[in-house]
Amino acid sequence: MKRKIFIGAAWPYANGSLHLGHISSLIGGDILARYFRLKGDKVLYVSGSDSHGTPVVLKAETEKTSPEEVAKKYHGELKDTFLKGLKFSYDIYTNTTTKNHEKVVQEIFLALYKKGLLYIKKQSLPYCPKDKRFLPDRYVEGECPNCHFKNARGDQCDNCGDLLDPEQLINPVCKICSTKPVWKDTEHFFLKLTALAPKLKVWVKKAKGWRANALNFTKKFLETGLQDRAVTRDIEWGVAIPLPGYESKKIYVWFDAVCGYLSASKEYSELNREDDLWGEFWRKKDSTHYYIHGKDNILFHSIIWPAMLVGSGSLHLPDKIFSSEYFTLERQQFSTSRNWAVWLPDFLSRYEADTLRYYLTVNGPETSDADFSWDEFQARVNKELIGNFGNFIHRTLTLIEKHFPGGIEYPKNDKTKILKLAEEKFTFVGETIEKGRFREALKHVFELAEEGNRFLATAAPWQKIKSQKKEAAEDLWAAAATIHCIAVLIEPFLPKTSQKILKLLNVKSDKISWKPPEKTKYTIVSPTLLFVKIEDKQIEIEKQRLEAEVKNANV
Ligand code: MF3
Ligand code: ZN
Repeated sequence: MKRKIFIGAAWPYANGSLHLGHISSLIGGDILARYFRLKGDKVLYVSGSDSHGTPVVLKAETEKTSPEEVAKKYHGELKDTFLKGLKFSYDIYTNTTTKNHEKVVQEIFLALYKKGLLYIKKQSLPYCPKDKRFLPDRYVEGECPNCHFKNARGDQCDNCGDLLDPEQLINPVCKICSTKPVWKDTEHFFLKLTALAPKLKVWVKKAKGWRANALNFTKKFLETGLQDRAVTRDIEWGVAIPLPGYESKKIYVWFDAVCGYLSASKEYSELNREDDLWGEFWRKKDSTHYYIHGKDNILFHSIIWPAMLVGSGSLHLPDKIFSSEYFTLERQQFSTSRNWAVWLPDFLSRYEADTLRYYLTVNGPETSDADFSWDEFQARVNKELIGNFGNFIHRTLTLIEKHFPGGIEYPKNDKTKILKLAEEKFTFVGETIEKGRFREALKHVFELAEEGNRFLATAAPWQKIKSQKKEAAEDLWAAAATIHCIAVLIEPFLPKTSQKILKLLNVKSDKISWKPPEKTKYTIVSPTLLFVKIEDKQIEIEKQRLEAEVKNANV
């Protein structure tokens, strides 16, 4: 039976380029989407650029331009990086600046308001006497009351992940001018989380298949007791409050952004002229909703968004929350301001996307913190992708080309252990992907290549060519059929490599599905290598580049 799978991947802020850290927490979404499509399920995989809020306003201030310009420029770049660069297969990658999105956000806002789940309250907020303005949460910095990290922001501590309010910070200062802010009265809309908590608790109790970090963090947060939270801000850039008298305020960027999952689904329906496609995913119980993001996004997806969904109507709640741990670069935290990052547009100008997709899957921050280092990148590409994986494929294909230039027919004798093993992988790898254990799933596919190398070494078809040509053909056909399985199994992870292999095997690639392919004839014509070896010299250059960019950022 066809299942309905919704996949929502976190929306990056449209205030800068993507770096490896972003992708490390998002790659799982594309693996899921591609896998479920191969399974024949109905997939709706959405994301977009998070274009409002202070992150974009701050960037506009440093670039001396408008938030509109910043958002527009980076949205275009982000979209290209995901779709063209990384081959992410989003059904739609949109933006929070669309009319459709504004409408959806305002509808949810009003629905909550009418039910009394949003109420207006006077609030005393940080105001900079020098800049003469209210300071959005992110404009206030200070010490975290929870872990005592010195540079916590007013909305969240980057060190322990706690959601904060600026008044909780110890020794707060204005981010613009370092003045100590004063607290001044203003009015805001509050989301009544206290009223929604009982329902959320029941829902979280039933949670199945979430990543441990998401579940534990959410449970702990619920146990400490929910508090109502302000969902509007004194800021000019954002979605307008759909009620008169609040023209100087906007809806909070997080309230706005999470609505993107729904608005993108609606936009996709409209684009495809299937009016109720979104409803099939959102109004019905029989769909499964996956959410993919980094650890610092957990509560917005496990508390705030579900609260908004429960409160505003009866739309489908998240089913599986896959949150990643932290990812570092050469053992140091990524830092945009220090320019300690490997930026995607740059990386992709020199390396194949699949080499990165491979690295971020086998050594991604799936269940514990992980690191990118140039040395490890080189080693993984040269030893694992080329040495093990590429080698099995290349050896097999060159042997077939050389000894069987007319191709090898299916020998009707496929009793070899290796092919059986390959065929059995589909069930296991599939189940492992569905559980969000991408690293383990990919390792299982790679084990097949290792087995394949062992099989070739033992069977030694090149020795049988003269006296036992039939057996040699059987061995090589089995190896090729195994490679055919690998090409399918690898598609969710390394889509371009999958295509290349299918092309080398001379089989149709437009109709693959998640099952052992049909037994066929393999004709090989001048097989090319799948990956380019990375030389030591190149890695040296990369390391120097990284250091040089930090220095540039410091001057
Ligand atoms: N822009 C946020 C961040 O980078 C993520 C928003 S996820 C959303 O942390 F889906 F809620 F938009
Ligand atoms: Zn902290």
